[in-house]
Amino acid sequence: MSLVGTCEIEREYFRAGLTVEQIARHSVDVESFSSRAAITDHTHALYVNSSDAINVIVRHADVKCQNVLTVAGSGDFAFIFLYRNCKSLCLVDLSPFALFLCELKLRAIEALTYDEYRALFYVPQIYSNDYRGPFVCRSVYRRLREQLTAQARAFFDVVTDEDNGKFWQICEPASGNSRILRFRTSYHPSGNLDRRHVLTDVNIYKCVQQSLRTTPCTLLLQDISALDDVFDYVYVSNIGYLDCMQGDVVGKILGHGTTRVGLTTRSLESLSCVMDETGQLYPSFDSAPPGVPVANVFVNIVYQPRLGDACKKTEPLIPGAAVSLGGVPAEVIGVGIGEDFPVYLEARSTKTIRKCRGLHKTGCRR
Ligand SMILES: C[S@@+](CC[C@H](N)C(=O)[O-])C[C@H]1O[C@@H](n2cnc3c(N)ncnc32)[C@H](O)[C@@H]1O
Repeated sequence: MSLVGTCEIEREYFRAGLTVEQIARHSVDVESFSSRAAITDHTHALYVNSSDAINVIVRHADVKCQNVLTVAGSGDFAFIFLYRNCKSLCLVDLSPFALFLCELKLRAIEALTYDEYRALFYVPQIYSNDYRGPFVCRSVYRRLREQLTAQARAFFDVVTDEDNGKFWQICEPASGNSRILRFRTSYHPSGNLDRRHVLTDVNIYKCVQQSLRTTPCTLLLQDISALDDVFDYVYVSNIGYLDCMQGDVVGKILGHGTTRVGLTTRSLESLSCVMDETGQLYPSFDSAPPGVPVANVFVNIVYQPRLGDACKKTEPLIPGAAVSLGGVPAEVIGVGIGEDFPVYLEARSTKTIRKCRGLHKTGCRR
């Protein structure tokens, strides 16, 4: 098993009322896309790369042989959980554009060598905040085109069309004002741009490739908190903005019977720390193990309001700290470095563990 067939994903898009004509129209009509891509309209979100604490999640999300559900987002989360050998993977998003990118990334991993994959997404140039330009290489894309759904094809045909391509370039990488092609990078002390991503070398790429061949993987267009299937682990990234608090999302998912939910939040103030090659943070040079190369970094490790009213006071979000997500208890697992100053948390249900049921059994909707 691997990523479900193109026809099944197409059926999912049609079920959600998404026609090829609509996609072609939205993708070309820049004005309409931009105005609908307002901060609360997730149906138009498109993140090219992850802004989350990828290194921290890779190290701590123990999902071996587990059924995992995650927000598709930039598509990079899929690589984390495949790399960590999950048993099944379900990727959900409100935005069809996020799902198209996820489709393309997964089909690319299935079919391409590491170097070809890098050429498709302009790696590592694209990880630099200074990068301006296209984000999908037309010639490599054309080799994968037939593997994509009709809807994703309609989208990437426009994105990679040089006549239309001007709009579909990374043009405002650091500000984050644009929800289209929004791009954030993570800092890594080695200065190596590749270390800002999960696919940092050919061996990791091959592991992900191998895992994808044997792991049932499915894509769904819907609200993650409305999915009532039970998973071993759900990663919701940093969803929950103005309309709904992160605690509400996590509470709902735990309420459906899932026992462990990972999430990312963003912090507001800086503290000085040092970080080693793996991204592990220490409060000072003296507290890092001897001989480990470390770099001085500033990291925001203070609470931010997205977590919910119950935790309005400012508390350091250092690893091990307990926080309340609007009444749902969670633990800080690690702190990443990046534009978003991501903090990775986990919330666990105290209820009796229920057996997983649902999508991951078949990879399809019941
Ligand atoms: C996860 S966040 C930010 C991007 C993320 N930090 C990353 O690294 O990929 C944004 C993504 O979540 C999706 N999203 C937001 N709320 C959602 C919800 N309730 N259900 C499913 N997807 C949602 C958006 O459409 C978007 O693709």
